[in-house]
Amino acid sequence: MKVLVIHGPNLNMLGKREPEIYGTFSLDDINNRLMALASELNVELSAMQTNSEAEIIDAIQGEKYDVLIINPAAYTHTSIAIRDAISSVGKPVIEVHISNIHKREEFRRKSYIAEVATGQISGLGADSYLLALRASKNILSQ
Ligand code: DQA
Repeated sequence: MKVLVIHGPNLNMLGKREPEIYGTFSLDDINNRLMALASELNVELSAMQTNSEAEIIDAIQGEKYDVLIINPAAYTHTSIAIRDAISSVGKPVIEVHISNIHKREEFRRKSYIAEVATGQISGLGADSYLLALRASKNILSQ
């Protein structure tokens, strides 16, 4: 049972980046919490961050996971290529966002990913990822 977490562009800046929106926790803090929960749930977890759309697509196409948790960050609102990669692979995908994209600027309300994702969790800070991991476990157990 393998879960892959992809953190998209600028999420390496968490903690320093607009803390009033994204909080003061770092990407390492999120990954450490995810790893701890994964061992509790007996799930094999790997996490990666990249600022590159091409690397996100290559990772989605890789066969190394059963469920994908992805925060596509700004690519959420622009990337038909990531959306197509998700549709091509046909695996369960949970889209996560730290902030609530539906109550921010108009351009953030459109997600190209939501239409091909299994579900979306948005606005719960670092907990968005942890809830997605719990949901992944349930999806895999069904
Ligand atoms: C984000 C929301 C996006 O609109 C933004 O571009 C991000 C982060 C979030 O996690 O809240 O980089 O995906």
